Amino acid sequence: PWNASRAVGIVSDHAHLEGATLPILHALQEAFGYVDAEAVPLIADALNLSRAEVHGCISFYHDFRAHPAGRHAVKLCRAEACQAMGSDRLHGEILSRFQVGWHGTTADGVTVEPVYCLGLCANGPAALVDGEPVAHLTIDGLEAALAESRA
Ligand code: FES
Repeated sequence: PWNASRAVGIVSDHAHLEGATLPILHALQEAFGYVDAEAVPLIADALNLSRAEVHGCISFYHDFRAHPAGRHAVKLCRAEACQAMGSDRLHGEILSRFQVGWHGTTADGVTVEPVYCLGLCANGPAALVDGEPVAHLTIDGLEAALAESRA
């Protein structure tokens, strides 16, 4: 869980770096699994930036989660070979079925993240469901893989 004093320590450990915002955000996400909204004023104060600048950086790079990840992780490949197999449309359907955006977590604890190539290019669209590769992904295949992972 988020720990304010540990977060302060992480911010000050990295504040001397050039372009410290990104290294700090990565370090916070690595430590806590997400970047809490409390980080914004901490970083802004340490680096003499406005809160809007820090917030802009968090939302510009789509790497950062604003909430803790759920218990299940779905990683959908957005790289080229999978795109050629229709992944973009499929991902749109998945996100709307799950009612989340990228990096979002469903009410029942499934976090959906983009990845860029899983080495399954010949069998796309590809995904990882809790670390298990799924080839020729469909919505039904994804639901089945999640059901198996929950069992
Ligand atoms: Fe999707 Fe390689 S492009 S697995």
